Amino acid sequence: MKLRTLSGIDLRGKYVLLRDDFNVQIVDGKITEGFRIERSMPTIDYLRNAGARVAIVSHLGRPKGTRDMKYSLRPIAEYMKLPFIDDCLDKKFLANMHDGDVVLLENVRFYPGEEENNAEFAQKLAAGFDVFVNDAFAVSHRAHASTVGVTAFLPSYAGLLLASEIENITRVMENPKHPVLSIVAGSKVSTKIGVLRALTRISDTIIVGGALGTTFNYALGAPVGNSLYEPDQKENALAIMEYARENNCRFLVPLDKGVGPVFEPNAPRTDKDIADIAPDDVIIDGGPKTAERDAIEIGRAATVIWNGTVGMAEWQPTWAFGSFAIARAIADNTRSGKIESIVGGGDTVAALDACGVMDDITYVSTGGGAFLEFIEGRELPGIAVLEEC
Ligand code: 3PG
Repeated sequence: MKLRTLSGIDLRGKYVLLRDDFNVQIVDGKITEGFRIERSMPTIDYLRNAGARVAIVSHLGRPKGTRDMKYSLRPIAEYMKLPFIDDCLDKKFLANMHDGDVVLLENVRFYPGEEENNAEFAQKLAAGFDVFVNDAFAVSHRAHASTVGVTAFLPSYAGLLLASEIENITRVMENPKHPVLSIVAGSKVSTKIGVLRALTRISDTIIVGGALGTTFNYALGAPVGNSLYEPDQKENALAIMEYARENNCRFLVPLDKGVGPVFEPNAPRTDKDIADIAPDDVIIDGGPKTAERDAIEIGRAATVIWNGTVGMAEWQPTWAFGSFAIARAIADNTRSGKIESIVGGGDTVAALDACGVMDDITYVSTGGGAFLEFIEGRELPGIAVLEEC
């Protein structure tokens, strides 16, 4: 895939509409996790140093086309120390910009035209700008006005983050060092069927975990107690395991689980083998035998791909055990040069961050849904419009 990039483009004095994904966690008006913002900085600095006049447009949450101030980007402007424009269609500020200036626009999803990819709205959003740059890999799986629509009105390019996401994920998917181990967890099999199939084709081993893993245990006839799982996905789970067999890919399900009497952060923890799970047990995390097996598998691999936590990693420390064990094993083996690792997904990246091992991973993607769709080989509409003809 060859994208139109910024290299060789004269940007001095040009008005640039920059699409970033600043859909970050904000609690009581404070940014609690700034990973996506941090990763957007190289492109912002590049544009600033090139003398462009930059307005950043982003969404935050799902305000459903209304001006719901719970989803205002103002706290992000304060965090980034950028001037804030409280309506993304109000272009009066352009007249006062100088070369190298950067401002942040209010949430583009305050207008219904954004998610509808309405052409009139896209034209209004593009008005006054000379160039569009998309650096929002994490939302490129959405065909919205600010990812696709505006490209009909402005010369459009990929930013540095977007280009690096594509380069890094493509390298691992197309030419991985074997053995390849993929760890796929999270809550639902139903949202990850495509990605599991795609990973089965390139992996030597797949480990499933989390509630998604519980569905596989259930499909194999194991007791799952009063836990979260998807009984209606039994046939899909069995078909994926059969597909893995056909592709010579080992398929490993959880061996044991951390269970509690209720699904609550303060529930007391007991570790049980899968076969011993009682009807009123609630599975909340992976167990120690599974964690030990996973660490051995990680140590045997050359490439590890990880998406999805295997328990409630945000309920620390009790229920983060399984996810933190995987994060640490991947980080240790990457640090010692044994494996190349690639990790994506909001909760998974938060687990890396909570363990303090973000910098020990070969490549951490900013994408959640976009990461999965890209791995699956689906065309992402926000990227397709940036491809060179
Ligand atoms: C994400 O966080 O995955 C992206 O920002 C996309 O958000 P959305 O699922 O609300 O479109």
